Amino acid sequence: MTDASASASPARTTIVAPSILAADFANLAGEIAKVPNADWLHIDVMDGHFVPNLSFGLPVAKSLIPHTNQHLDVHLMIEDPERWAPDFAQDFQSVTFHLEAVRDIDAAIVLSEKLRGLGTMSGISIKPNTPVEPLLDHLEKFDLVLVMSVEPGFGGQAFMPEVLDKVRALRERIDAEGLSTLIEIDGGIGAETAAESGAAGVDVYVAGSSVFGKEDPAERVDTIRTYAATAAQD
Ligand code: DX5
Ligand code: ZN
Repeated sequence: MTDASASASPARTTIVAPSILAADFANLAGEIAKVPNADWLHIDVMDGHFVPNLSFGLPVAKSLIPHTNQHLDVHLMIEDPERWAPDFAQDFQSVTFHLEAVRDIDAAIVLSEKLRGLGTMSGISIKPNTPVEPLLDHLEKFDLVLVMSVEPGFGGQAFMPEVLDKVRALRERIDAEGLSTLIEIDGGIGAETAAESGAAGVDVYVAGSSVFGKEDPAERVDTIRTYAATAAQD
């Protein structure tokens, strides 16, 4: 390795994860077949308590498994993740719960270790008004940090650019410590906001309404990836 490559930032990942929340629930297998080029598929589980909306639970999420080999990325917007998240850990490649849904960062670390022990990548998510600082000293305990760029609960909301300060703080610390923790952004992502997010340091881009419900979902995925990767390199 040359000195120049040794001092360069590690190669950044660009992962696009369409959210099935925006898909036709009556035809989920057909919907995910429209995005074979997606790196991950994002699965939003809402309980009507942690967020003011109800989506679906474990049986519906599991029904996708026979229909794809893609990485299934579960986002739990639920109360009491200690009770439910382990059930998801056995079947899904990544399971993310909310910091606001557990007692404190110590409880989050305990749950994360449990999830990792069950063989899944563990993720921690924060809502737009939750500060990132409590996470910064513990990033090695999580495989991904999901920064919400809308209030969780519904698709189709406008991207909140102010959350990118949290992404920059995460990127700086992850790079400084040489960690492999991924930064995921969720809410209001399309080509332009993916580019803004890529420039700030995001690795994983969740996109619901800008992919499903459009005429050309696969093309939308590729466009988001291109915008994000180009901005991340600049
Ligand atoms: C919102 C969910 C998102 C949602 C994003 O609470 O966590 O994953 O599907 O939808 P869009 O991309 O339409 O903002
Ligand atoms: Zn989500």
